[in-house]
Amino acid sequence: MADDLILSQQENEVFIIEINRPDKMNALTDEMYRLLTECLKSAEANPSVKVVLLKSSGAHFCAGNDLADFLETEFNQESNVIQFLITLASLKKTVIAAVNGAAVGVGTTMLLHCDLVYACENTKFSMPFIKLGLTPEGGASQLLAQRCGPAKACEWLLTGRNILAEEALQAGLVNQVFADNQTTWQKAMDSAAQLSSRSQQVLVESKKLMKGGQVDEVIELIKKEAVVFAERLQSDEAQRAFKAFLSR
Ligand code: COA
Repeated sequence: MADDLILSQQENEVFIIEINRPDKMNALTDEMYRLLTECLKSAEANPSVKVVLLKSSGAHFCAGNDLADFLETEFNQESNVIQFLITLASLKKTVIAAVNGAAVGVGTTMLLHCDLVYACENTKFSMPFIKLGLTPEGGASQLLAQRCGPAKACEWLLTGRNILAEEALQAGLVNQVFADNQTTWQKAMDSAAQLSSRSQQVLVESKKLMKGGQVDEVIELIKKEAVVFAERLQSDEAQRAFKAFLSR
């Protein structure tokens, strides 16, 4: 069932969204982005929800966009992935992410829009766009430098190399690192419970102030990146890279 690919449930005032495609390392398809957006919008609209918690089932957070989908699905500024990223970037409610294993491509860039990120020490982040003939997406072309500094952003985006959890912690990509998945998840839940004991208005106003009116700029950036990304997806270089992965 396509609906099973994204699970959601509410625990007290916490809305938990779980990416559930562990056999494909939680790689995201067009339909999964649509479902994620639907979940985010319903959490945002629900007055009994204060905090959104994003996680994945199995050993990996997310292996990025499904590479077969890149070949099959038309991509443009209106695509479900762009709607998902824009919805996440503009969410007024607090978003916490709990990550483990592989966090590739959008599996890392979506974290730039989360307010708190907790990682298991086995997490390997990467933004391998360059290796696939692609360009940064999801706001990463500028938000990564803002969050982790220009040196790290350049190196990570221009090499596409793996970033271990400890390095991600030192650079400020994540808030805290834990020894195992269970402890990481528990910390995310505890943190969500603690935040949801605060008033909704204070949470929302605090986030708004911390974003400093940047949300519209970020949305424009995501759309601008999408134009270049769409061109790159059609390039021989990118098409060859996807086919090479799929025919291994
Ligand atoms: N799209 C589609 N399927 C993917 C996927 C992706 N992005 N990432 C992993 N999978 C699938 C594999 O095809 C495989 O499925 P199969 O068992 O049916 O063959 C399964 O998930 C396990 O992946 P596998 O490659 O065998 O695991 P690994 O441990 O050897 O390698 C990665 C892990 C993450 C290094 C590797 O899967 C990879 O490079 N994935 C692509 C990541 C990527 O480029 N994402 C897009 C960024 S823009």
